[in-house]
Amino acid sequence: MSEINYGPLTQLIGVWKGDKGKDIAPEPDGSEEDNAYFETITVEPIGDVSNADAQTLAVLHYCQIVQRKQTGVVFHHQTGYWSWDAATGVVTHSFSIPRGVTVVACGKAKVEADSTVIEVDTTENPDSGGIAQSPFMQKSAKTTSFSQTLSIQGDLLRYQQMMVLDIYGKIFNHSDVNELKKCL
Ligand code: HEM
Repeated sequence: MSEINYGPLTQLIGVWKGDKGKDIAPEPDGSEEDNAYFETITVEPIGDVSNADAQTLAVLHYCQIVQRKQTGVVFHHQTGYWSWDAATGVVTHSFSIPRGVTVVACGKAKVEADSTVIEVDTTENPDSGGIAQSPFMQKSAKTTSFSQTLSIQGDLLRYQQMMVLDIYGKIFNHSDVNELKKCL
């Protein structure tokens, strides 16, 4: 069996923990809540898949568990895949959250001597993905775009992400940022 090359995703494999999370989320009265959090992201290689006999993707699966710093309560749960197409260099981040929202965000990775930076988003162009959501979310708390930048330097992973929401009659920039260390 040949060894699978995960390309720029290789550095993501492992168990990551971080407690510097900062989430900005919407409140019903139009204001914002500012939530400090810690989290664990477990990333595992799951092999490759081929599509339409023409595309081969090297794939990682992950689970992200986010807990409120003040209480330890899990307030965000996310699972999905990172894939890399060696032929085109396209990186795809596809994931679901329990609210009934599923995202496919595409982009590219930039690999340098000491770091890897991955940028993905769902904006409307042929190289990007999309968002599927339940009828309730579509009507009352619609995610209109997702963008994320992730950078890895050795055992340090930093990410920032933005979800533009149409909620409570206005557009809200829901965002997250954290810094994690690889512990396994
Ligand atoms: C670290 C990651 C994330 C954290 C900590 C987080 C946290 C939160 C919090 C605290 C709220 C306010 C409502 C509540 O208290 O339940 C919220 C709302 C929401 N989030 Fe996130 N979120 C994260 C990622 C995401 C992602 C990736 C998406 C979509 C792609 C998303 C979509 C939404 C939507 C649609 C709402 C509006 C629902 C509502 O407020 O009733 N979130 N999130």
